[in-house]
Amino acid sequence: TELSHIRNFSIIAHIDHGKSTLADRLIQVCGGLTDREMSEQVLDNMDIEKERGITIKAQTVRLNYTAKNGETYELNLMDTPGHVDFAYEVSRSLAACEGALLVVDAAQGVEAQTLANVYQSIEHDHEIVPVINKIDLPAAEPEMVRKEIEDIIGIDASEAVLTSAKSGIGIEDVLEALVAKIPPPTGDRDAPLKAMLVDSWYDPYLGVVILVRVMDGVLKKGLNVKFMQGGTEHLIDRVGAFTPKRVDLPEIGPGEIGFITAQIKEVEQARVGDTITTVKGGATAPLKGYKEVQPVVFCGLFPVDAADFEKLRESIGKLRLNDASFSYEMESSAALGFGFRAGFLGLLHLEIIQERLNREYDLDLITTAPSVVYRVHLAHTKNEDAAVVDIHNPADWPDVNRIDMIEEPWIKATIYTPDEYLGSILKLCQDRRGIQTDLTYVGGRAQVTYELPLNEVVFDFYDRLKSISRGYASFDYEQIGLREGDLVKMNIMVNGEPVDALSLIVHRNVAEERGRGMCERLKDLIPRHLFKIPIQAAIGGKIIARETIAALRKDVTAKCYGGDISRKKKLLEKQKKGKARMREYGNVSIPQEAFIAALRMG
Ligand code: GTP
Repeated sequence: TELSHIRNFSIIAHIDHGKSTLADRLIQVCGGLTDREMSEQVLDNMDIEKERGITIKAQTVRLNYTAKNGETYELNLMDTPGHVDFAYEVSRSLAACEGALLVVDAAQGVEAQTLANVYQSIEHDHEIVPVINKIDLPAAEPEMVRKEIEDIIGIDASEAVLTSAKSGIGIEDVLEALVAKIPPPTGDRDAPLKAMLVDSWYDPYLGVVILVRVMDGVLKKGLNVKFMQGGTEHLIDRVGAFTPKRVDLPEIGPGEIGFITAQIKEVEQARVGDTITTVKGGATAPLKGYKEVQPVVFCGLFPVDAADFEKLRESIGKLRLNDASFSYEMESSAALGFGFRAGFLGLLHLEIIQERLNREYDLDLITTAPSVVYRVHLAHTKNEDAAVVDIHNPADWPDVNRIDMIEEPWIKATIYTPDEYLGSILKLCQDRRGIQTDLTYVGGRAQVTYELPLNEVVFDFYDRLKSISRGYASFDYEQIGLREGDLVKMNIMVNGEPVDALSLIVHRNVAEERGRGMCERLKDLIPRHLFKIPIQAAIGGKIIARETIAALRKDVTAKCYGGDISRKKKLLEKQKKGKARMREYGNVSIPQEAFIAALRMG
């Protein structure tokens, strides 16, 4: 296709503002699917994937649209992951487009998540076409939202398209606006090949499928190509696009988006952001912006039932096939047995993987306290040189006497909330060692930015934020680097023995309070035993908090068991069953829920 007839765009929207519904309508109008195929939402298809047992990850769709001027255009709609944890992937998708549709719910208005994405899009010099959706709702206030888009985002919204994706109103207008406003791509067909690797995923039939945006040159079947950053060479055996059905094509030319396969077995070999060029006469310099993504949040994943370990190993391996950004290695814990230590791009990423293991693979898991990566500077000693180590597992925390200085990752958080919840939100941020950097009001809502240590956010910050704002606050963050912190390792001891799964790295100033909270919660979570159980929080050898679980009174059990043998048997049977969900620790049985619940801060 000629460059002048290509439009590459993404859709920016807050969750639930109607991105998928609008995308489906665009596909429908452009005739990509029959009505029956349309009956399922196309772009959001985790469940469908699961049902069919295959991965179709229909990310990018190529549509043909014949505009009112009589010309036919190739529209490439690129789906972008919705969450900040996948910021780098989002940035690559954006780099493959020239514009974006900004979908805003006519009844909800602009939200924080939307803002972050819009700014990113603007940074990529995108032309932004505002779409005000859900105008069919009685609560819709399109004029107010139009003004909000102009006031908050600062783009002209006078020509915003009004739609109801649900009832199919305004869809043609969206397509016309796309063609008229979004600039066509540029590129040189005769220059050496330069294609950006936008995304990759594993397909059981095709192997690794790679989504590309060609900048210069042409991609064809039979071409020998080189991944410039990865350093590998491959023979292209298939070239095509999704409409959203997969179709093979003779080539992908400059400015176009499509997919290739090249008999690659692992997604790890096809890293997002890499530059693909020809082995012979290829480009000399790669495209800008390649970055290796590193996990920032780690936690242990252990099967509740030790017998599920093999199943867990297999399931994690399968998930990893499609997600090169999460890492895992085997770990064993005295309390929890065999499991894995896994690294994620952020909290949501962690939750997604955890949820998928639970739902798709039917695994009951114990997750240990999430940890960030600490940079620990070790002092020079008689026997050892000074060193700098990155630690993401409290179990590996170095001897305090050797620690010279510790650095921890910080984030900049942007929270957007209705006024009435602001007070509680400020308190929450303050409690989590936050430093307020900005606070502005826009039409009954506040936007506040805080710098926060990531380790204060990984526990239940997001849950707390949602609960104190009754779901109305939205939250977005970016990493802003490492800062020195006075951090210590806190151990929790049950009946005198440290429980490794409950060890935490905390700031010294909040250690006592956190320790007390954990001891109090554990006191309620651990059932009484025949003996009295001390629960203690300690830093090094120093106890900073203590609770005691009183012993069961002997005569109570005697009475309970009575003399009846069959009843006693039944009771024992019951206890055995209950044990499956308990963990033995220094003679004490700790219920599975206690590990997670203990970490929730009140
Ligand atoms: P995520 O996939 O969760 O990010 O949401 P999304 O932005 O893709 O939103 P989605 O298209 O799934 O729509 C969210 C809800 O809004 C669904 O229940 C839709 O049926 C509904 N919806 C979408 N567009 C409209 C509209 O124009 N009017 C009305 N009334 N509802 C709509």
